[in-house]
Parts: sequence; structure tokens; C-alpha cells
Amino acid sequence: MSELSAKIWPKSAKIENGSLEIGGCSAIDLVAKYGSPIFILDEADLRTRAIDWKVQLSAAFGANSGSVIYAGKAFLSVEIAKIIEELGLALDVCTGGELAVARAAKFPAERLEMHGNNKSELEISEALDYGVAKIVVDSVSEIERVARLAKERKKVQEILIRLTPGVEAHTHEYISTAHEDVKFGFSIASGAAWEAVTEIAKHETLRLMGVHAHIGSQIFNEEAFVETATRLIGFMGRFAKEYKRELRELNLGGGFGIAYTESDNPISAEKMLSSICKIVATESTNAGIAIPRVSIEPGRAIIGPSMVTLYTVGTTKEVELENGDTRLYVAVDGGMSDNIRTALYGADYITILANRGSNSGLRNCRVVGKHCESGDILIKEIALPSDISPGDLLAIPATGAYGRSMASNYNHVPRPGVISVSNGTARTIIRSETAADLLALDISEPARPIREQK
Ligand code: LLP
Repeated sequence: MSELSAKIWPKSAKIENGSLEIGGCSAIDLVAKYGSPIFILDEADLRTRAIDWKVQLSAAFGANSGSVIYAGKAFLSVEIAKIIEELGLALDVCTGGELAVARAAKFPAERLEMHGNNKSELEISEALDYGVAKIVVDSVSEIERVARLAKERKKVQEILIRLTPGVEAHTHEYISTAHEDVKFGFSIASGAAWEAVTEIAKHETLRLMGVHAHIGSQIFNEEAFVETATRLIGFMGRFAKEYKRELRELNLGGGFGIAYTESDNPISAEKMLSSICKIVATESTNAGIAIPRVSIEPGRAIIGPSMVTLYTVGTTKEVELENGDTRLYVAVDGGMSDNIRTALYGADYITILANRGSNSGLRNCRVVGKHCESGDILIKEIALPSDISPGDLLAIPATGAYGRSMASNYNHVPRPGVISVSNGTARTIIRSETAADLLALDISEPARPIREQK
């Protein structure tokens, strides 16, 4: 294979003398230096995508464009936060841990937004103390909590309210979030959203600035976003009538899909945003309000395509199927601990032989990991050169989002590091774990009465 599909691979990825190169670094050199499995980030690709979302949002909404708020849950590290900061994007954090990363990167508080459906008092306090621009409230208990903790600090906190618009986004059930039967947000249809607004209005330390919805992930077209914008603006219109003031912020969340395989065809940011822009203008007029500032929270669409995982093949095994055919199981040195998406969502990926060309014919393979589970599958079915053998390298593209960020230490497998490559240079942004990291949390201590351990 000499051509890599531009919609799946990072921009700098190419085949040179039969082997894969990213950011001017060969996969062979990268694995020789950093070991495998390893995540490789094409930093220029990430920067281009992040800027493109910003440019497209401004192009679509002009003076009404709010912020592109990178969703850190897709993948966050101190260096990533610094890049996002440098490019002028905002950042969405949804836990105290993500906030700690933002703080370590000295991410400006005025560009931070705090999410989460069950923020602890500690997390809310940390967010208030750091001075995050917006907290997105998600439950009645939380409204009271944020109001009280802000009062203790003599602060007025700007908030958004997370709404459930009741829109079915056509994606996997576990990553679809805005139909009615979910833990997130306040339902518009049931009246819970309106009750929450009434609750918010009781607190002088809360300032409601706007509405938010995140309808799901890996969405390929504009329809669900258009429907969501319509319902949210209707709600904003009702608010304006009752409270005699307008909410100025409309945050439509993330969820913009990317291509993992050739059959994935997400529409462009430009097309997506221009459709949303049209409906926002029409519906604002219908609702009798000024056009609000529109913000979005892409995670996957910014970081997903910028990263590739490199693995080393450890074993191959031919297995006879019930129908008499055979399948080659190709086992690599990672698996569900660095990419749970196939096991969890039935996600599809592609892979290529990354260390050499091959003239052998293709054969039916399944790429599996090294974990003690038969569900530890990375790619259910793919055609690979039949001479694939132990020691070969495999590269799986589009692993930047929800790969390293959802990684685990199952079976005490150390989590892979992340190496940023650019123009033939490589730098570690997260180092690979070692057995010593795993053991660092193991403690042997004598038992002591619990009451003496305060
Ligand atoms: N905003 C909010 C409030 C979110 O909950 C999320 C994702 C995003 C933005 C970013 O969504 P994105 O643009 O990355 O699709 N682990 C799943 C995805 C879960 C998404 C959770 N929330 C996966 O691997 O597909």
C-alpha cells in the first residue's frame, strides 16, 4: 500500500520505502526509541485542525461567534493544554483531574469551562478558586452547591444550564446523550429545565449566561444539531419573555464525527456550521431574541485524526471457523487497555503494516491484544498481507480521541506514552508507564484503628 487515505490519517503520514512515516519520523525509528505500543501525535495536524474549527466558527457566525472549546476528555495533557492555549481556543474540563492539568499548564481561567454531571464540592471549590469562566450546571443539587460555595467566596459565578433537548443523535447508545432517558442535563420537555431556571434565579451568587446541550458523539451530519439549536433557542425565547433579559450564550456541545474507516463520511466543519448558523438566525428571529453567541466543544474532531498507535506483532495464529474458512489472529502488544473503543462500542478501525512493504496476497485477519479476554479485539476483521509475522509493526490511525484518555492498567499492563512528532523531530508529552509506576501505588502497612487515622 503506498497511498494513505487523507480523511483517516494525519496529514504528514506517508509511506516511505515501504514503511510508515509521521511528522518526518519513521515508525521503525519511533518504536526503536520509545518502544511499543506508543501513541504518535502529528502536532502540525492537531494545530491545523484546531485552528480550522476556530476559523470556520468565525466564518459562519462572524460577530456572533463564541468560542471553540476543546473538550479535554478526548485527550488532555499539559502540553496539549499549552497548544490549545497558544492557538487561542478555550478548554472544557469535566473533573478535578482535568482541571489540575489545565492549572499545571497555566491555562487562563477566563477561557475555562467546567462540566460534569456530578461535580464534588472539592471540584466546584477548585473551579471557583481558579476562577473558571463558566460552570455548566447539571442538577438541582449542584445549583445549590455552586451557589453556596460561590457565596462563601463572595463571588458571583457565571453559569450555563445543561439542557436535554430530546433529540436522538444517530450514534452508539452509550455515546448518545440527549434523548430523554439519560443522566445528563435538565429535560426541556418534562419541565425540569424550567424548574431549574427558577431555582437558579433564587441565588444571587449565580448568573445564568446561557444554555448548553451535548447530544452525543461521532455524529456525521447537521440534522440533530439543527433540531437541538431550534429547541434551545425556543427555550431562550421563553426565558427572555419571563425574565425580561436575554441569555446570550448558546453552547451546542461537541460530537462532530471523524472518519475511522473509508465508509465514514462526516460532513465538513464548514457545512455543519453554516447549516447551524442559518437555523440560529431564523429561530432567534422567531423567538424574538437577538442572535446569541454560539460556542462549540469539539474533542474528537480536533485530536482524533492527529494520532496513530504503533504496535508490535507478538504472535499470529490461524483459527478455523465454523464455515470452514480460516482467520489469522494477529496479536499485538497492547489492546483493550490502550483502546477500549472496539470492545465497548463495536468501533471500527483500520490498520496497515508499518515497517515494510509486502508483495504477499491479502488474507482475512483479526487484530487482538494481549489481555486475558476474548473480547480484547482491536479490529474485528481486516485484510492484511498474509506474510505478517511476529516483529512486524502495525499502525492504527485515528486513535487520538478516547484512546489514551480511556486507557487502563488492566492485567497490569503499563499505559503507552504519547510522542509528538514534527519535521523529523520527536518529543515525549506523556511518557510510557513502567512496572515501577504500577507498583508505586502498592503499599504495605500495619493495620491501625480507623478512628485514630483522621
Ligand atoms: N462536550 C461535552 C459536554 C461532552 O460530554 C463531550 C463528550 C464533548 C463535548 C466532546 O465530544 P466529541 O466532540 O469528542 O465527540 N468515549 C466515547 C465518547 C464519549 C464522549 C463524551 N462526551 C467514544 O470513545 O466514542
